[in-house]
Amino acid sequence: MFSSNGATWKTILILAIYTFIVLVCWEKFPKFSWTTVVTTPMNPKFSTEISTISTISKSPKKRNVTIYAATTYYHDLINSDFVLRRCPELKEFCKVTNKFSDADTADAFVFHSRNFYETSHTLPLLKNIRKPDVPWIIWNIESPSHEKLPGEKNLFNWTMTYKRDSDFSARYGALEKLNKTSNISLEEIWSFKNKTATWLGSNCETPNHRFRLVQLMIQKGLEADIWGSCGKPTGLCDGVLKQTEPCVLDLIRPYKFYLAIENSNCKDYVTEKFWKSLEDRMTVPIVLRRKTVQDLGVPDSAYIAVDDFETLDEFIQHVIKVGSDKNMYLKYHEWRKDYRVIFDNGFYGWCQLCRRLQDPEEVKRNRKSYEDVERWHSFEMCDDNYTIKFMTK
Ligand SMILES: *[C@@H]1O[C@H](CO)[C@@H](O)[C@H](O)[C@H]1NC(C)=O
Ligand SMILES: *[C@@H]1O[C@H](CO)[C@@H](O)[C@H](O)[C@H]1NC(C)=O
Ligand SMILES: *[C@@H]1O[C@H](CO)[C@@H](O)[C@H](O)[C@H]1NC(C)=O
Ligand SMILES: *[C@@H]1O[C@H](CO)[C@@H](O)[C@H](O)[C@H]1NC(C)=O
Ligand SMILES: *[C@@H]1O[C@H](CO)[C@@H](O)[C@H](O)[C@H]1NC(C)=O
Ligand SMILES: *[C@@H]1O[C@H](CO)[C@@H](O)[C@H](O)[C@H]1NC(C)=O
Repeated sequence: MFSSNGATWKTILILAIYTFIVLVCWEKFPKFSWTTVVTTPMNPKFSTEISTISTISKSPKKRNVTIYAATTYYHDLINSDFVLRRCPELKEFCKVTNKFSDADTADAFVFHSRNFYETSHTLPLLKNIRKPDVPWIIWNIESPSHEKLPGEKNLFNWTMTYKRDSDFSARYGALEKLNKTSNISLEEIWSFKNKTATWLGSNCETPNHRFRLVQLMIQKGLEADIWGSCGKPTGLCDGVLKQTEPCVLDLIRPYKFYLAIENSNCKDYVTEKFWKSLEDRMTVPIVLRRKTVQDLGVPDSAYIAVDDFETLDEFIQHVIKVGSDKNMYLKYHEWRKDYRVIFDNGFYGWCQLCRRLQDPEEVKRNRKSYEDVERWHSFEMCDDNYTIKFMTK
């Protein structure tokens, strides 16, 4: 206790001079260790100030980082080559490992939601070695209708999903505005389009009844070929992971329209089939709700939405009209002059993650914890019954 103001000021002055000397030594003689400073008995208020000052005076250093993948990705082992395919240059400083022995020294942990069950034995150990500056990330590319995220509270710091409000993006694709108008020939597109509509589907029973909707469209007069396990066999071209195979491209390219109706009707949930039909397949995608695609920044003229029409019949009449009128049809390809398609397949976020981890200050600045990540993922996100209203009139 200080008995008078004079004594207090004297003490503060002495402490301030002492602090100043310590700081000068700290800057001039790197061997003068931090431990010496904090163990010196002094007013805790001053030691807090010192630590603030020293943080500011030291420039943030970029570091090499290791990310531990605690699960597989649909049974595929996760490593740098697999997940940094969009940014191979980052492998220089960013190592992705699935070895449990690397977990202890890793700078971040990633869990793929669908494979989270694989951690049933390791999770308690991982929790034991968990450090506050090592963020845990949940990675997911499925909609809430098909995937529940782990229910445990405050388990994850960051998210990597297709949702736009994720910390890192696991989007399936995007459009990027070109700086210069491209000279793409729309006439050429028309020249190889001699079939109407198609759908390549391997998941026939979905909560939003999309297969029934497609069947109803055909029944009501839409010319559409269904390929895959829901329709005619395609040999080796069927399946979500086959989306980039050349045989799929050859199969789909002659069609004018692609039924890019997702397996569930959820906010931001637009998958590879939509982006692929825009990209090299050069088809006009047909989606269920305009709003969902609009939110992702796709120009309105690039696709047809079922919900632009009062009834399924009106929608089908429109598709038939557009398909038989070259000028009308090519209007749906005009956007190609101003944009290019980026096909991501859910890996883009890994590049963003490496870059953030590289700077420990960035990690601290983004300190965060999802109290209920499953609610964040699913609450009021889907309306699978939305499809039904087009089946009843
Ligand atoms: C990071 O790793 C590279 C080799 O990949 C090495 O050349 C470099 O010195 C490392 N940098 C740091 C800060 O450790
Ligand atoms: C457009 O220009 C900017 C700035 O030069 C560049 O960063 C961007 O990659 C360019 N976009 C495309 C699609 O080339
Ligand atoms: C577009 O321009 C490039 C050169 O910039 C040229 O090679 C190509 O043939 C042009 N394409 C068309 C369809 O005019
Ligand atoms: C469309 O054109 C391809 C060749 O480009 C041909 O093999 C196919 O039979 C044609 N289909 C129809 C429906 O005309
Ligand atoms: C991660 O979450 C845990 C638990 O909520 C928290 O203690 C820790 O500070 C968080 N770390 C980061 C980097 O956000
Ligand atoms: C969807 O509709 C079915 C039957 O029409 C009903 O049983 C179900 O509760 C509805 N689901 C939602 C989420 O409203």
